[in-house]
Amino acid sequence: MPYDLTHFQLTGIEAIDTEHAVFVEMLNELHEMCQAEVDNRYLKQAIIGIFGFLNKHFETEECCCNWEECPIASELKAAHDIMRARLEYLQLRIESDGLSQELLTETICTLGHWFTSHISHCDNRIGRDRRAA
Ligand SMILES: [Fe+2]
Ligand SMILES: [Fe+2]
Repeated sequence: MPYDLTHFQLTGIEAIDTEHAVFVEMLNELHEMCQAEVDNRYLKQAIIGIFGFLNKHFETEECCCNWEECPIASELKAAHDIMRARLEYLQLRIESDGLSQELLTETICTLGHWFTSHISHCDNRIGRDRRAA
């Protein structure tokens, strides 16, 4: 089930839209790696890479919302903080327990859910609110 960014509106902010496209590519690569049954070491590397990328991406978006009276800034930061904690927890478990099939599935579901819900319900408002300001 490859992810496709065309299902979602662009924010109109180039830095964010570019990073969303990269995130989709990373998710799809991870999906292909799982189908190809590559060694867990490489899956783990890919997952940790995605986590690092997302943490930088959250900073990009929060900087884009760092303008006076941005209506979505606090909601966006709160949503990102929940995901930051979730990623940190998953990474700790992956590093301490190894990447079991169960943990891999949980990680992929977490990332996929994030993509489909957060980008369409929260991130897409960044550009709209900015244009309305
Ligand atoms: Fe976001
Ligand atoms: Fe985003």
